[in-house]
Amino acid sequence: PGGPRTLLALNWKMNKTPTEARAWGRELAGEYRPGIRGKAEVAVMAPAISLYGLKEALPGGVDIGGQDVSAHESGAYTGEISAAMLRDAECTYVIVGHSERREYHGETDAVVAAKARQAQAHGLTPIVCVGEGLEVRERGEHVAHTLAQLRGSLEGVDERVVVAYEPVWAIGTGKTATADDAEEMAAAIRGALAEQYGALALGLRVLYGGSVKPDNVASICGQPNVNGALVGGASLKVEDVLGLLAAL
Ligand code: G3P
Repeated sequence: PGGPRTLLALNWKMNKTPTEARAWGRELAGEYRPGIRGKAEVAVMAPAISLYGLKEALPGGVDIGGQDVSAHESGAYTGEISAAMLRDAECTYVIVGHSERREYHGETDAVVAAKARQAQAHGLTPIVCVGEGLEVRERGEHVAHTLAQLRGSLEGVDERVVVAYEPVWAIGTGKTATADDAEEMAAAIRGALAEQYGALALGLRVLYGGSVKPDNVASICGQPNVNGALVGGASLKVEDVLGLLAAL
């Protein structure tokens, strides 16, 4: 009570064609009844090519977002998508620094921060992802590691931001952090946000991501410092998304 509204951020990753995305949006619209609608704010992070058509098909009030954004304004950056393009396609959010971008595309904290600043400059809310790998967790250094990543990734970024804690060992593996693990890190993240943004930190959203399913979403999102979830696998079928919302 009093905290930010729960956000269910759905990360489709590299799944669904534009046609499939539109069909998904229409299917959700057919099922989106008032009881479900009130449970959480929902945002779909779709591949850039599907965003425009998806938004038209989705029920009113469901937001969309990109999965990545260029740190540059415009110009000779073949293959990149700019913040202005995402905004024009009616995006509210954009994920930056997902562990898959960090791992497969070499994104450093400095690059992630530059992307987040660029998103904010165009009125998008960046969802900044941080989280440790298994070895770091086993050494017991997960909090220090994640907070260091967070500070680097929020350099020059203002308070219009969402932070997602995604322990890499829990992504797509079926291994979920316990609700206590999620809360431990979310509380630490909130502390770091308070250092940077003062009292505004209380109103910011900290999400958990990593094998969130209908059967664990309520206990995780029920933690005092967890304000929602970033969901991969369970975001692909409308049925599962309805299950997540029903469980909240
Ligand atoms: O960004 C969401 C994500 O990385 C978690 O994926 O499939 O474990 O829910 P998944």
